Amino acid sequence: AAAEKGGYDYFMLKEIAEQPKAVADTLLGRIDAAGSLTLDEVRISASELREVDKVVIIACGTAFHAGLIAKYAIEHWTRIPCEVELASEFRYRDPILDQQTLVIAISQSGETMDTLMALRHAREQGARVLAICNTNGSTIPRESDAVLYTHAGPEVAVASTKAFLTQLVACYLVALYLGQVRGTKWGDEIGAVIRDLSRISNEVERVLETMEPVRELARSLAGKNTVLFLGRHVGYPVALEGALKLKELAYMHAEGFAAGELKHGPIALIEDDLPVVVVVPSPRGRSVLHDKIVSNMQEIRARGARTIVIAEEGDEAVVPYADHLIRIPATPTLLQPMVATVPLQVFACELATARGNEVDQPRNLAKSVTVE
Ligand code: AGP
Repeated sequence: AAAEKGGYDYFMLKEIAEQPKAVADTLLGRIDAAGSLTLDEVRISASELREVDKVVIIACGTAFHAGLIAKYAIEHWTRIPCEVELASEFRYRDPILDQQTLVIAISQSGETMDTLMALRHAREQGARVLAICNTNGSTIPRESDAVLYTHAGPEVAVASTKAFLTQLVACYLVALYLGQVRGTKWGDEIGAVIRDLSRISNEVERVLETMEPVRELARSLAGKNTVLFLGRHVGYPVALEGALKLKELAYMHAEGFAAGELKHGPIALIEDDLPVVVVVPSPRGRSVLHDKIVSNMQEIRARGARTIVIAEEGDEAVVPYADHLIRIPATPTLLQPMVATVPLQVFACELATARGNEVDQPRNLAKSVTVE
């Protein structure tokens, strides 16, 4: 078993470390020399894709968080309305779908019962289903109209890490491809995004090289009961994902909030020395959001919170309000989740270890949930 873990103590650590390769492998062969996307493997014709007037993403857990992030990219790049729903909720609703709806089912295992039932529900109503899946020949891709595989390689640890990053890559490829076949009018931007995406694997590698202080910080928080996570825009689902990792691995009460919602309730939770992880948007791009999060940090710190700040290199505005500062490389806004999630995975994994928990097999959980 030690050999299977490639020298790491846990599969999770190995899988975290494999992320740069997983990301690169998922891009491999899907971008041609001219910088265009070649997704012929997605057997939905260009003319069918041109007719799509709504995208609905269904998934569970971490895959659902990937879907939440994808919504920002899909709507921004394609101008097609996109909804994201938990598969377990979707299937018991009366969703409004037809042949022009593209349903994207995201699943690492391809065997999650809730997602499978949701996709059947969608197909019964005439929608086309595209699976984004990591497991060749599994049930979800078999029952879908088309599939785009993520190439993360087998994921063994119950807590999903490399699958998540590759799900983001696959969703972005689909979004860009939709933009490409539909001739969305942002011509130059598509090329720039593809170039940035090709570089992201190196950025993830750089993040992994700087994780020792994150591990130290995690160990120092082993006695805490609660950690909150704040983010906005694509940083909001990142906050949700950070909280989910902490729940499953450290068995701590962890919750993610949209930073803009703080004043609508959650700020009442802030008390002395409460650790709050803040995912800070890039100060370039949508700088309004950046400034708003900086004022949120001021507000919660004034109420005693201990801020753990994830911010881009060179973002000096956050320094006065950060009790702990975790730097990530500067990336375009929509790509930030691919680098910002990594420290949160490391943080949760180290906290689990420090609390004496089983990292690869957390209590009460199964790798793939094949029951309702
Ligand atoms: C993630 O860490 C979880 N173990 C879980 O939320 C998982 O992402 C979810 O059950 C969906 O699984 P799937 O991707 O195999 O469908």
